[in-house]
Amino acid sequence: MDNFIVGLPKAELHLHIEGTLEPELMFTLAERNKIKLPFHSISEAKQAYNFNNLQSFLDIYYQGSNVLQQEQDFYDLTWAYLQKAATQNVKHTEIFFDPQSHTERGIAFETVYQGIYRALQAGQKELGISFQLIVCFLRHLSAAEALKTLEMALPYKETIIAVGLDSSEQGNPPAKFQAIFDRARKEGFLTVAHAGEEGAPAYIWEAINLLHVSRIDHGVRSIEDQDLIKYLAEQQIPLTVCPLSNIKLKVFETIEKHNLKQLLDLGLCVTVNSDDPAYFGGYIAENYQAVQDALNLNQTEIYQLAKNSFQASFLQLETKQSLITELDHYYQINSN
Ligand code: ADE
Ligand code: ZN
Repeated sequence: MDNFIVGLPKAELHLHIEGTLEPELMFTLAERNKIKLPFHSISEAKQAYNFNNLQSFLDIYYQGSNVLQQEQDFYDLTWAYLQKAATQNVKHTEIFFDPQSHTERGIAFETVYQGIYRALQAGQKELGISFQLIVCFLRHLSAAEALKTLEMALPYKETIIAVGLDSSEQGNPPAKFQAIFDRARKEGFLTVAHAGEEGAPAYIWEAINLLHVSRIDHGVRSIEDQDLIKYLAEQQIPLTVCPLSNIKLKVFETIEKHNLKQLLDLGLCVTVNSDDPAYFGGYIAENYQAVQDALNLNQTEIYQLAKNSFQASFLQLETKQSLITELDHYYQINSN
C-alpha cells in the first residue's frame, strides 16, 4: 500500500466496533464462550462474506456478534481494532456500538460499555489514539426499544458524545425515531444517522430536519437530489463515506463507479471510513487506497479527505487545529 496513505494522520468517524470482529477472534471467542458457530473454519466464514445488499450483510454481522459475551470479549475486540488503527496512523476514532444486539441476548449494557471503554482508554494511553463513543439504535427495532436503550446509556452520558441510527435502512425512516432523538438532544447528546446508503435522499432530509444530525453516515445517494447537494455543500454537513462497504453491499457496481470524487468536486465535506472492516476487506488505509487507485485521486485530494476527517470530528476546536497542523506538516514533507 502507498506509504503516503498509511502514514497520513487521519480520523475515523464511521466504524462499528462489532464490525471489526475478525474471523480469527470470532473463533477464539466462540471457543472461550462455548458457542457454536455456523462455520467450520475461518476460510468457510470468509467465504460466507459474500453479500448482495445491506440486509444479507446484517444477518451475518448480528450472528457474528453472538460470540461477544463477557466484558473481556468487548475489550479484546476493541483493543485489536485500536492496534490495527495505530499502524495506519489513526489519531482519533469515533466508534459506534450497537447495545441492542447484545442486550437482546441478555448481556448487560454495562458489560458492553465497560469492555469497549476500558480498551479505548488503554488505546489513548498506550497508542495515543483519542476517541469518542457513539451509541447506535437499531432502526429495524421499535422506537420504544430505542428509548429503553437511550435510558440505559444515560448513566454514561458524560462519556458518550452522540447517538446514531443504523441497521436496515429501507422502510425504517429517520422520522420513526424523531421523539427519541429529541430526548437524546435534551440530554446533551449530539446526533448522527445512517441515511442515503440504500435509502432515498428523502431519508437524508429527514435526518437533517427531524433528527438534527451533525453528520450523515454514508449519504452517497444525496447525488440524486440537486437541492440536497447544494444544501450539504453550503452547510458543510459532513458525509462519512465507506467505499469498500459500498462495493461489498452493491451500492455501486464497482469501485470505479463510486461517486466519492464527484461529491468532493461538488464541494461536500466528504470523509473516508471503514464501516465494518472485518467484513468488507479493509481498514481505513485500504479504503483510502481503493478510492485513490480507482478514482485517480491526487495527493492534494487525499490530504483534503484527511483534513475533512478532523474538521468533521467531534473534537474540541483547539485539538482539531493542532491535528490539522500535524497533517499540514506531514503533507509538506511527504508530498511530491
Ligand atoms: N451496521 C453495521 N454496518 C452497517 C451499515 N453499513 N449500514 C447500516 N447498519 C450497519
Ligand atoms: Zn455503518
